Amino acid sequence: MATQESGRRGTGTSPGRRAVLGAAVLGAGAAAMGAPGVARAGERHGHGHGGHRDLPVPTVVAHRGASGYRPEHTIGSYQLALDMGAHVIEQDVVPTKDGHLVCRHENDITGTTDVAAHPEFAGRKTTKTVDGAKLTGWFTEDFTLAELKTLRAKERIPGTRQHNTLYDGRWQVPTLEEVFRWAEKEGRRRGKRVWLHIETKHPTYFRKLGLGLEEPLAKLLRRYDRHHRNSPNFLQSFEPSSIQRLHKLVGAPGVVLLSSASSRPWDFVEAGDPRTVADLVTPKGLSWIASYAKGIGPTLDLVIPKGPDGKLQKPTTLVRDAHAKGLLLHPYTMRNENTFLPADFKKGTDPNAYGDAFGAFKAYFATGIDGIFSDNPDTALLAAADFAGH
Ligand code: G3P
Ligand code: CA
Repeated sequence: MATQESGRRGTGTSPGRRAVLGAAVLGAGAAAMGAPGVARAGERHGHGHGGHRDLPVPTVVAHRGASGYRPEHTIGSYQLALDMGAHVIEQDVVPTKDGHLVCRHENDITGTTDVAAHPEFAGRKTTKTVDGAKLTGWFTEDFTLAELKTLRAKERIPGTRQHNTLYDGRWQVPTLEEVFRWAEKEGRRRGKRVWLHIETKHPTYFRKLGLGLEEPLAKLLRRYDRHHRNSPNFLQSFEPSSIQRLHKLVGAPGVVLLSSASSRPWDFVEAGDPRTVADLVTPKGLSWIASYAKGIGPTLDLVIPKGPDGKLQKPTTLVRDAHAKGLLLHPYTMRNENTFLPADFKKGTDPNAYGDAFGAFKAYFATGIDGIFSDNPDTALLAAADFAGH
């Protein structure tokens, strides 16, 4: 993947012209949050043949819900994201001991629930190796759903997001089925489908435990009529074999997540496949992904690398190369706080204060990406509206 000249960004089609921000999407949400007038008709997204063609571009994916403002992966976080007008709401899923899919970023629930304060579960604390990493804590696969439901979610990064701790203890860990029911109810109320972006977490690890994720996920998708190619959900994973498996089970579009260039997907490690992410972002690697997926979810650094000073450099050719294979790009993750922003967009010295997030969004949108994961969907929507108004 070569670094792209700044004058030749995108796919040959101006990102500005490709941008679509429909009145139906922003009218009730971002407009109410103060977005400028963006209700203009535009060109629809052209990749693939699924319902995702109808999504606005750039598509705002609420990362773990509106996790910049509420404890992640709670109904409260999802609800706020939807109320803000986010186009798609993300769920990460892991299984319980009895095979239910629940929404957590990882199976280690030490940092995002109050499990440590439950003396009845003190004996469940253990040390495991998950995808090569040794972890000590409490794990979803050691709890039945009934047991997990006695816990309450809490803020993951209270030092950075003290305000979010106001909501600690307010919500349970939701099951994916509860989220589907919530989406159905909200969809009826709003008269439009609620889009979800569902990620299988540690799928090879769980399959080895007899807790394969893809089959129960496909079953649930079918039960809620979300298994078609035009159904309002994306299915994502850092492990390509999980997306390949899902591709055989359901029609919903798959997105292969890509971590740093030097990393190897854990299923590759287990299978002895020597390829790294650097191999997957070559035209050959992207062609391979396009044979079973509709998109990629690269880390933002694969789209615009940072230099040794932490500042953004020239965009790579990844957007152009992926689009050439018919793949959409949903990079991750934009967050408003200085600590997460590229050095050129930090403001002041407080790492937890907000920096120039709009400046960073603008730089990323200018590359021609199709969407973005953000903990701050309201900011992302305003930035997308600014971009569409160019
Ligand atoms: O799924 C996109 C993005 O969420 C990937 O990062 O670690 O937050 O799941 P992570
Ligand atoms: Ca995720």
